[in-house]
Amino acid sequence: MKKRFNRKKISLIGAGNIGGNLALMAAQKGLGDVVLFDVVPGLPQGKALDIMQSFAAQNIHTQVSGTNDYKDIDGSDIVIITAGKPRLPGMSRDDLLDINAKIMKDVALNVKKHAPDSVVIVISNPLDAMVYQFAMISGFEKNKVVGMSGILDSSRLRTFISMETGVSPYDIRTFVLGGHGDDMVPLIRYTYVGGIPLLDFPGITKEKVDKMVERTRNGGAEIVNLLKTGSAFYAPAVGAITMAESILSDQRRIFSAAAFVNGEYGHKDIFICIPVILGGNGVEKVIEINLNPDEKKALDKSAHSVESSKEIMTKKGYLT
Ligand code: APR
Repeated sequence: MKKRFNRKKISLIGAGNIGGNLALMAAQKGLGDVVLFDVVPGLPQGKALDIMQSFAAQNIHTQVSGTNDYKDIDGSDIVIITAGKPRLPGMSRDDLLDINAKIMKDVALNVKKHAPDSVVIVISNPLDAMVYQFAMISGFEKNKVVGMSGILDSSRLRTFISMETGVSPYDIRTFVLGGHGDDMVPLIRYTYVGGIPLLDFPGITKEKVDKMVERTRNGGAEIVNLLKTGSAFYAPAVGAITMAESILSDQRRIFSAAAFVNGEYGHKDIFICIPVILGGNGVEKVIEINLNPDEKKALDKSAHSVESSKEIMTKKGYLT
């Protein structure tokens, strides 16, 4: 699709469960014209046509097109990548590494060729490894590459806190740091219900918080076990669209997201979930907050898992 004057262009690589929802949500929010790419012939074209046919009833004026040709992503302002396999029951995100690394290499080379000026949001799992691989293969500036993880993990925690307190999840704020895996680090000390620290909220006890944290850590697996045929797609799509909106409109909102660290939080040369400001240039700023010794220890443990995936990818030649 040719880039239209004065309209943003959003390209979605992968037209599966998350990709299709991203396309619909991007259109409904009026973010710009959408190109849906997939390797499966007909799949992105069919979904695009279906979404376009919903516009007449919704007063939407942008375009959604489907393609199997990377040329159509030329001139994209933003690219969101969901290409790859989702987990099935019993699998960890890391079990997807070999299969998705092969896919991500092809995606990164094509995005580099056709959308070199875009900001890229990676959703494919294992998230921290995939976003690192994309950055290495594409050679994109590190601030132009970000992974959607913390916004989803913190949305899950906000949901469970909302269920427990009866307060709207929108009024609950929290951070989740670390890798997008079982050892992610929900930061309870920085969690507020309408400005009230979570542990001071009436009826909230440490035991209840521990249970909510555990459910958040297993939040993805809980859904995989219920769906049985794939993984979560609505909340991941909303997470990425919220990030994309902040980038496309230069909103400079703060999210926890997988961003490149070069010494921040004591770690180097990995992508890991930390608080960042997202604006027109992608990651505008990495925010370093004070962690107590327990929080730092938990973050280090999570970072070490991310570093191990990086070592595996280096050994297997996925990074070149
Ligand atoms: N290039 C582009 N798309 C590809 C490629 C490729 N080389 N290989 C596979 N795909 C497409 C598939 O054809 C499929 O349509 O990626 C799409 C993935 O869609 P789903 O299987 O529905 O998976 P989804 O639920 O969208 O999750 C995608 O995001 O959250 C992560 O763990 C999840 O890694 C998974 C990814």
